[in-house]
Amino acid sequence: MDTVRIFDTTLRDGEQSPGISLDVGEKLEIAEQLARLGVDVIEAGFPIASQGDFEAVEAIARAVQGPVVAGLSRTGFKDVDRAWEAVRHAARPRIHVFIATSPIHMQKKLRMTEDQVKAEAAAGVARAASYTPDVEFSPEDGSRSDVDFMCEVLQIAVDNGATTLNIPDTVGFGVPEEYGKLIRYVIDHVTGDYVVSTHCHDDLGLAVANSLAGVAAGARQVECAINGLGERAGNAALEEIVMAIRTRSDYFGDIGVNVRTEELARTSRMVSRLTGYSVQHNKAVVGRNAFAHESGIHQHGVLADRETYEIIDAAAVGQEAAQIVLGKHSGRHAFADTLEKMGLKLQGDALNQAFVRFKELADRKVEITEADLEAIVAEELGTGAVHRFELVDLVVHGGTQTMPSAHVVLADGPTKVEADGTGNGMVDAACAAIAAACGVPGKVLDFKVSSVTSGRDALGDVVIQLEADGRKASGRGVSTDIVEASARAYLSAVNKIVRSQDAEPRERTVGP
Ligand code: KIV
Ligand code: ZN
Repeated sequence: MDTVRIFDTTLRDGEQSPGISLDVGEKLEIAEQLARLGVDVIEAGFPIASQGDFEAVEAIARAVQGPVVAGLSRTGFKDVDRAWEAVRHAARPRIHVFIATSPIHMQKKLRMTEDQVKAEAAAGVARAASYTPDVEFSPEDGSRSDVDFMCEVLQIAVDNGATTLNIPDTVGFGVPEEYGKLIRYVIDHVTGDYVVSTHCHDDLGLAVANSLAGVAAGARQVECAINGLGERAGNAALEEIVMAIRTRSDYFGDIGVNVRTEELARTSRMVSRLTGYSVQHNKAVVGRNAFAHESGIHQHGVLADRETYEIIDAAAVGQEAAQIVLGKHSGRHAFADTLEKMGLKLQGDALNQAFVRFKELADRKVEITEADLEAIVAEELGTGAVHRFELVDLVVHGGTQTMPSAHVVLADGPTKVEADGTGNGMVDAACAAIAAACGVPGKVLDFKVSSVTSGRDALGDVVIQLEADGRKASGRGVSTDIVEASARAYLSAVNKIVRSQDAEPRERTVGP
């Protein structure tokens, strides 16, 4: 059977979404989940971009088993060498070399002639191929390039060792029929042994449609990202691509995808939680409402036969996970067992800590779902990093006629620190008290609140993006009380900033 490789770029192109900044531990956590999901390739980052990117790619290459681990690189030797340095520890490393081929990019961005671009592509690909036989080449802005010039460059890449040719629709300009024809043209005009890949952006909302047109035309790798994350309007959404190929095998023919689809919903939730990008309720496949039937006629039909109004079984994409899993009478054993089934293997102190938090929550909330458990475990344990400050107590006062105020007690190792704060609301007051107690004054750049599940006792999930000491960090907090959730999120961001103060600056120095 023919297989379409799923190349996940959540950690590279996805991480280029405005406001997303994942640390090494968070990237590793996502990469482990992508391996569990069964993607073929993980593009782990752009190693030359920053020390943080390099460390993340290296850590993923060392730790994550299963998928190919790719690092992005421009054609310069310094870039290629750095990419190799980061991916070389992987069992199956790949270097992904790119250079733009469209007139506007060559003239305005690169300031290179066509001949210079050809020479760069040849040299960069050859350098990468001297390290690994798995080399991918992308002519950036391919869909706005002169097609024959692009094919000339692609031929040079193949002749110098590229085994995957990726055709980026960098600015989301393509439309399906035309993009499919472009893929076919490449296959018909570039000779050699290579796989053609799609890479479509969603500026016109056509990324998934264009990618699928590419597959129908012969592409056998699709570059995509969980929840459609990516530069500007994003990349093609992985979950939609996979389910379209699976569900419409009558149209796409005998093409396999290696993904374990039951992991899709969980992967989507994890990426949303760690990036702070929430998933719209009506999002295909992984949205909260993707399997909800509101109208009586639909409900009646689904009860008679699910297939009257559903083309995908919710269980097949892991969407039945919002069912009740535990309650306040559940014991430690059931708790540990449920976490293990969810792929969260906690032991010792970590398990104890998570269990305490679960019990606290169970006292306030009747039904605890898988999504609730994921949220509290993630917030409590983060990515295994040590938190300098822990929330011990928070007391807030507010009302329509009083100035909101808060008193906070934090543990700073064995020492207790406390402070008061006032603000224009109880959340603001709690954050002011935390800032005073930690001695880290910051500015809240973004504040998002959503509920993990539904109902009056739902867990509130707060994501705060904080800027302090010239650094940015996002923190997440969950609680049935949104003031407490906000305080936890603020403190989590402060902890990240404090941690990064000793580390190298993470600012991106270059970008594709
Ligand atoms: O969109 C794009 O062109 C890219 C390339 C670097 C592959 O992300
Ligand atoms: Zn891209």
